[in-house]
Amino acid sequence: MSTLLNEPTATLTSLCRKYDIDVNRLPAHIAIIMDGNGRWAKKKNRPRLFGHQEGANSLKKAIKSASIFGINYISFWAFSTENWKRPKTEVAFLMKLIKTLIIKELPELKKNGVKLKFYGFLDALSPSVQKSVRVCESETQDNTKIQVNIMLNYGARQEIMAAVNAIQSKHLPITEETINDHLLTHDIPDPDILIRTSGEYRISNFLLWQISYTELFFLDVFWPDFDRSHFIDVLQKFCKRERRYGGLKP
Ligand code: FPP
Repeated sequence: MSTLLNEPTATLTSLCRKYDIDVNRLPAHIAIIMDGNGRWAKKKNRPRLFGHQEGANSLKKAIKSASIFGINYISFWAFSTENWKRPKTEVAFLMKLIKTLIIKELPELKKNGVKLKFYGFLDALSPSVQKSVRVCESETQDNTKIQVNIMLNYGARQEIMAAVNAIQSKHLPITEETINDHLLTHDIPDPDILIRTSGEYRISNFLLWQISYTELFFLDVFWPDFDRSHFIDVLQKFCKRERRYGGLKP
């Protein structure tokens, strides 16, 4: 388990007071399904790819919001194991967008203490995408302000199958602990919050094991329109939710 733990500062305390957020109940990890880029573009009579481009801007803004609120981990599902079914041009565009954006933003990420990590079946990506991923991970590995996880060619069923196969090949018992230890996400905590934008009420093969006790937020806004106000609204609601993990109210 990674040890990113930021203590609340006076600035964070007053920011939370301003927005009626309990500073002691902030989430450590927020995961996001960035859905609705295509529909957002269609509504504006623009090509789907324009939606993805704008979606990348929302991602940058969400990182900033998370950083301001002292969130330790934020994860974005950028490309699923099922997204290869999309037209070749869209897949190529997404890969190029991800590759160029991470390299372009690298100096800014470094300056702001962002540790960038990638989770997914990365071996299946093109050598040039893999190289950008490696560069960004190695150049940000010592940063501690916030960890940003990009889930790339990620699928939860495939992740669980790979974990179980690895456990079996090592002749280990199949337990909750051994499964956790063999997941792609073995070094990050489970998300406290999962946000899906675009008004769809589905998980779609994202972090199926890890979200057992995650608080779910389905937002009726397309991802390119997701902004600081939505982020704050989710935090306000999260702090008021009671998490019992199958137990009773204390
Ligand atoms: C889902 O919307 C979105 C995606 C499959 C891609 C999301 C990727 C980005 C926003 C780029 C991220 C960039 C980096 C650097 C990680 P959709 O296309 O399914 O929208 P629709 O449901 O309206 O068609």
